[in-house]
Amino acid sequence: MTADLSLIRSSFTAVQPHGTQVTEYFYEHLFANNPQVRPLFATHLDEQRDRLWAALGALVSNLENTETLTSMLQNLGRRHAGYGALAEHYPAVGASLIATLQHYAGDAWTPAVEESWTAVYGVISSTMVAAGDSVSS
Ligand code: HEM
Repeated sequence: MTADLSLIRSSFTAVQPHGTQVTEYFYEHLFANNPQVRPLFATHLDEQRDRLWAALGALVSNLENTETLTSMLQNLGRRHAGYGALAEHYPAVGASLIATLQHYAGDAWTPAVEESWTAVYGVISSTMVAAGDSVSS
């Protein structure tokens, strides 16, 4: 992974004070740019917002524990196959995630931070997609 994990942690920490606004922004960005994924989600998103952010926090805390990280991502990927998440949706979610972090990280956002998140999201999505494929095939 060509990512500076300390930059991942510091930028993630920098957005935390913005609270629920962060996930609201994420879903607005995702659905505005990809209306086709809206029907996959429950109409009422409150709980879902918290779970996504909590999962992201758990992933960020385990970036160096490769085995734990991989098994978390495989479980998440298998469950996502059941939600109808397709491989083609992952780049869209990644773009909205990065746009959201960028929006709230302020001065903590730099090209190196963006590069690190892009690399980390690449690992997250490829592991989730591979696990999801193993369920559906
Ligand atoms: C960084 C990648 C992602 C993370 C960390 C993440 C996290 C989560 C979490 C924690 C849940 C709650 C249920 C559970 O734990 O199984 C969830 C549900 C869900 N996710 Fe994701 N997700 C990611 C990517 C995606 C992608 C690419 C899609 C595709 C559109 C997606 C669609 C959904 C849907 C449809 C649900 C169920 C929502 C509902 O019940 O209303 N997620 N996600």
